[in-house]
Amino acid sequence: MATRTLPADWYTTTESLERDRAAVLRLGWQYIGPATDVVEPGSFTTGQLGSLPIVITRSDDGTLRGFANVCRHRGALIAEGCGKRRTLQCRYHGWTYKLDGSLHRSPGMTLDEEVRLPEVAVATLGPLLFAAADPDCEPLETALAPFLELLDRVAGVDPDRIVHRRRLEHTIAANWKVVVENFIECYHCPLVHTETLPGYGDDDYRIGQFGPLHTQHLDDQRFCFAYLFPTTQLSAYGLENAFVARAIQPLNHANTRVALDYWFLDDCDPVAADRYIDWFERVIGEDKPLCESVQHGLASGAIDRGYLNPDAESGLADFQRLVTDALSEA
Ligand code: FES
Ligand SMILES: [Fe+2]
Repeated sequence: MATRTLPADWYTTTESLERDRAAVLRLGWQYIGPATDVVEPGSFTTGQLGSLPIVITRSDDGTLRGFANVCRHRGALIAEGCGKRRTLQCRYHGWTYKLDGSLHRSPGMTLDEEVRLPEVAVATLGPLLFAAADPDCEPLETALAPFLELLDRVAGVDPDRIVHRRRLEHTIAANWKVVVENFIECYHCPLVHTETLPGYGDDDYRIGQFGPLHTQHLDDQRFCFAYLFPTTQLSAYGLENAFVARAIQPLNHANTRVALDYWFLDDCDPVAADRYIDWFERVIGEDKPLCESVQHGLASGAIDRGYLNPDAESGLADFQRLVTDALSEA
């Protein structure tokens, strides 16, 4: 019997997004952006893990750390965007924190206990920055191990040798889960990406699932892909020496921002790199209207649960199980 999809109203209501933000979108390691923002001592950058705002700092001694970006006084957000500062000052009442997360100053009052910002985990993969809400989670390399093996064996792209070339952002009028689901199946590839992705989704196309990590690869095109539940997608293209990191962030229940960072090997031809980016954007351009069409259909009330192809859409079944488990654990 075919597996059924999640109920339509899990994609179409503000309540469902609030649930996802609190229980699903805070989980696991998530790609934040280029680590180049926090290379210099004294630099910081901000991000979001579901409902948890975070700030990542590089202190003067060179240590990279991550914290909840939430003031211990009464909860205002402390840092915005990215930049370089000796301390981080909350703009509400001026409580100030050192870049190691300890409270430096609380104007007009003394506290009789040590106060620190709550810690989150941070790590890098080459020049890519990741964070996880749980400071005791497994190491990033462990979470990504099956992908790192493909990256080396299939694509032959060394993450320590890639340099950032461009960030492009798309807003897709669809729930974040619709967007994730689009990128973790290639059932649609032969029909939708006939010219852009020839050979994708055919018999040689391999899919794997390792706990929260979903992988796809195609040996002869030296392509590999990973989706790390819940918001991170990484792909490498050995023929073009390219690496793409996608961060998927809901704007609201029916709109999702996809930020794409394009990386290339340090000695890559810039014209070839731009040609590759154009091609990849064409693929996204083919997917976007289909995601939006799914959202439209789900919001219509005409169907509740669809049907999953047991082979080509096994990644969706795994994703939907991870979502359901996270919600029931919460
Ligand atoms: S809430 Fe941050 S100083 Fe008051
Ligand atoms: Fe697609």
